[in-house]
Parts: sequence; C-alpha cells; structure tokens
Amino acid sequence: MNSLDFDVVVIGSGVAGLSLALQIADNLKVAVISKGKLCDGSSLYAQGGIAAVIDEADSIDSHVQDTKDAGAGLSDETVARFVAKNSSNCIDWLISRDIKFSTRKSKSGKFELHLTKEGGHSMRRIVHAADATGKAIIMELLSQIVQHENITIFEDHIAIDLINNKGRSNSYCHGAYILDKLANKVRVFRSKNVVLATGGTSKVYLYTSNPDGASGDGIAMAWRCGCSVANLEFNQFHPTCLFHPQAKSFLISEAVRGEGAKLVHADGKRFMRNYDERAELAPRDIVARAIDNEMKINGLDCVYLDATKLGENKILNHFPNIYEKCRKYGFDMLKEPIPVVPAAHYTCGGVVTDKNGMTGVHGLYAIGEVAYTGLHGANRLASNSLMECLVFASSAAKHILRNIGDTCICEDISDWDESNVIDSDEQVVVSHNWEEVRRFMWDYVGIVRTDKRLERAKNRVELLQREIDEYYWNFKVSPDLIELRNIALVADLIVKSAQSRKESRGLHYSLDYTGQDKTPQPTILTPDFAK
Ligand code: FAD
Ligand code: SIN
Repeated sequence: MNSLDFDVVVIGSGVAGLSLALQIADNLKVAVISKGKLCDGSSLYAQGGIAAVIDEADSIDSHVQDTKDAGAGLSDETVARFVAKNSSNCIDWLISRDIKFSTRKSKSGKFELHLTKEGGHSMRRIVHAADATGKAIIMELLSQIVQHENITIFEDHIAIDLINNKGRSNSYCHGAYILDKLANKVRVFRSKNVVLATGGTSKVYLYTSNPDGASGDGIAMAWRCGCSVANLEFNQFHPTCLFHPQAKSFLISEAVRGEGAKLVHADGKRFMRNYDERAELAPRDIVARAIDNEMKINGLDCVYLDATKLGENKILNHFPNIYEKCRKYGFDMLKEPIPVVPAAHYTCGGVVTDKNGMTGVHGLYAIGEVAYTGLHGANRLASNSLMECLVFASSAAKHILRNIGDTCICEDISDWDESNVIDSDEQVVVSHNWEEVRRFMWDYVGIVRTDKRLERAKNRVELLQREIDEYYWNFKVSPDLIELRNIALVADLIVKSAQSRKESRGLHYSLDYTGQDKTPQPTILTPDFAK
C-alpha cells in the first residue's frame, strides 16, 4: 500500500492553508500540500491589504454595511458580521506571529497601524505592509511552518481527487489521491480531515491578475466528491492591471486609487463620474464595467491611471513595488499616467461551507478563496478576501480541534489504479484545449454577458469536456491534464450558474436582463449523485 497517514491534510499553502495549519499543528499531525512551491498561490501577490475594524471611528456595522453594499444584495449579513467581528482578533494573531505591517506615528507620538483606503470602503480600514501585504504574511508564516515538527510539507504535489464513499448517504472524505510531480507517482494520503485551501479559479480567463495555479482544482475536486457550489457566475474583474504585453496583467492596487489616483483617457479627461458618484472609489464591479464600456465605445486598448498628484513621498513609501514594476516596463508613475485594463481577479463563489468552514461532506473543510461562505455576495469588497481566509482558518481550526477525536483513519482505501492507461502521445491536445477554454471564457463569459454568448460558451465547454474526459481515462495523469480537467469543469459550472441568473447584479451583467430580481437568491448547484 502506497499511502501516508495524517490527522489533517491541508491542500494549499496560501494565507488560508498556512494559518489553519499553524493553529492545529501543536496538537495534530498535519500535511501541507502545494502543487508548486509553497509560496506559489495568490496570497503572495496580495498588495492592498486586509480589511479590519481597527480605527476608533470605525465600527462593525459600518464594515458590514460596506460589505453588503458591494455584495449587491447577496451578501449574507450574519456572515459579514461574523467576519467583521473577528477581524481585529485576526490582525492581532498575525502580529503575534511577527508579521510587520506599515505603521504611522499617532498624534500622541505612539506608533499605530497605518490604515489605507480602497473602493467601496467608507472608512480607512485596510491594514497593509506597504504594497506587498501578501508577501509579508506568507514569508513569515512559511518560516514558521517549515520549522514546526508536526507539519510535513509536500511541495510539487498536486491533488487529483478526494477520496470518499461517494453515492452512499452520509458521505465522508477520507483523504486524497495526490501526484508527486517530481517522482511522477500517485500516492494515497489518508487522513481524518481534509482541508481544501486551494484558492480561486481566475485562470479560467485569458487575462488574469492571478498566478498560473489558480485553476479551480479545489472547486472541481469538491464537486466530484459531492459538494454543492454557489455563486460561480460572480467572478471579479480587477479594474486596474498594467497594460503591457510582458506584464502578465500585473495588478495596480486599488489602494493607489484609494490614496487619490484618477482614471483618465489619453487626453487626461476623467470618466468615472459619469458612472457613479463615488467615481474611482466605487465598488470594483462598477469601475471594471465602466472601463470596459469606455474601451468598447471608444475602440481603445486601455485607459490610464493618473497617480502623478500623489507626490513622490507617498508613491515611493506606500507603493514601492508597483512603482518599480512600472519603471521596469517603461512607465514613471511619478511623471505620467500608466496604461491599465481590467483582468479576472477573484472567484466570489465556491464550495458551499458553514461558519466552521465545513462542506456538506463529512470530514471535508474548505477555506479561503475556494469557499463560498456567503460573505461576498455578488461582488467582493476590496481586501475582504485575506480577512475571510484568516477568519475561517481560525474557526475551522477550532472546529477540527474540537471534533477530531470522533474520527479515525479509514483503512479500506484502494491504491491509484494505472493498469489501463498509457503515456500520453498527444500533449498538444492538452495545451490547445487550455488555450481554448480560457479564450472563450474571456470572450463569452466576461464582464458583459448575453444569452447568445453564454450558449456559445456552453456548447464549446461541453464538447471540450467530452474530449478531455476521454483523454483523462486513457492516459497517465500529468499536472497539465489535471488542471485542464478541473478548469473545464469549473468553466462549465460558471456558465451554468451564469445561465441560471436572469438579472444583472454585481459582477454578473447581462444585456438581455438588465433589471434586478426583487428577492435575489444565491445560485447553488449540487451534483446529481449527491442530491
Ligand atoms: P492561494 O493563496 O491562492 O493559495 C492556493 C494554494 O493552493 C497554493 O499553495 C496552491 O499551490 C495550492 N493548490 C491549488 N490547487 C492545488 C492542488 N490541486 N494540489 C495541491 N495544491 C494546490 N485580497 C485581499 O484581501 N487583499 C489584497 O490586497 C489582495 N490583493 C491581491 C492581489 C493579487 C495580485 C491577487 C492575485 C489577489 C489579491 N487578493 C487580495 C486576493 C487574495 O490574495 C486571495 O483571494 C487569497 O490570497 C487567497 O488565498 P488562499 O489561501 O485561499 O489561496
Ligand atoms: C488591490 O490591492 O487592489 C487588491 C485588493 C483586493 O483584491 O482585495
């Protein structure tokens, strides 16, 4: 038997996975799995910061209200309150773990956290480490993870599927099949609990701010295991990514607009006031749609972000990495507006979970971007993602510690069976299909949708899924094939979710249904075998 046993297998080493692992590892034997290097997820790239109720003038009510306003009628108020209430404790936890945030000198002369502002927030509420908040958190947590004696790290290990007693009532997750990419061998990881912390699925779109691994593996694995998924039609497009062929949609943080930068055309004319009275600081769905519209009606490749009035001091101290990156591509933020376009950024929907991060399958948790907790509704408020990762990592950790005594490792698990498959002879099928899914999702399921475009996407994704499925069952699995199979499944779920929403709300905008339902509901899909 080719298996490894742990109390808890954590799939994913972003902010969600690492903070959960650290909170349970003094008591339990934990595996942390990453399909690439440990720091490969989106978390490392987080710029703006973490939304938290810290300022004395701020309140939980105000954070909840801003979250609900951004969520366009679909944020769950009890969840928004749960997150806002726990936000300052999570910041305290990070500080206790030695994370260094940006500070400023208060009037009394003491140092306090510097809070920045972003779109949709009525207060300065964003805790940050200059413009590289994710890196500050991930590098510090990683240094602690690698030293912990109860944590075993598996880099370059990609989870293929969860192991469960699918089809029986009372479905239970017993571990995962995981491909060791370097040894090219599939191992069985058996555990009492599995935590999916696999991040989002923005790589389903051609242009994205996300790193390559954001292929929705967790959502796809959970679906195949019998979990419900929700609100997948709400994929967030960040309004401002650097427009440059080599920049790979590098993000220009919303905090740059929060500190005063304006969106303009090449002639310097602003346009956001034509769309929303909050102008550049309207929620992201509104700003991204406005930019998309300006580009379409004027036949433009990009618009511009003018930060020249922020001054040298603010730009160099608050945005040193963004400044340097722009310089690298030939733009000087101090002196000229920089070209920007929207790109896919964040998956608001995901695997349905409760306040403890539990999915509908026993023993299986989902936390971070992979999860649908109800917080974001139809559009996520800026910097609420890292906070959601932290709050649910903490509640899931407590739940696991309380309940793990009731579970045991399942001995009756078969090895991965490769007896009927051969090595792939046509790798080109995989790379071609990757490109095709991402392109039609961008063209047909992007910022503005129509019934016709969604129908086209549906036809293509069904065809591709059949081809990929055949390939999957006949050839040995490879990391690219695993991701392609997942991305095609998630594309299918996104299209189905978008087709079922007959209104325009938040990030889902349809030219065929421009009105809004009076009693909007989340879109929940459940696999047939689990109904
Ligand atoms: P990730 O950090 O994405 O980690 C996912 C992990 O899962 C990775 O380790 C990956 O290797 C692993 N994984 C995935 N699939 C598999 C598999 N099959 N097998 C094994 N391992 C797997 N949010 C904010 O709140 N504030 C910000 O300022 C902010 N800025 C952002 C800037 C950028 C450029 C981006 C891309 C996102 C930003 N976000 C921000 C969003 C936020 O960073 C993410 O939502 C959050 O970091 C997700 O964390 P996570 O732990 O859920 O997943
Ligand atoms: C940003 O810095 O603009 C990203 C913030 C976020 O995604 O919440």
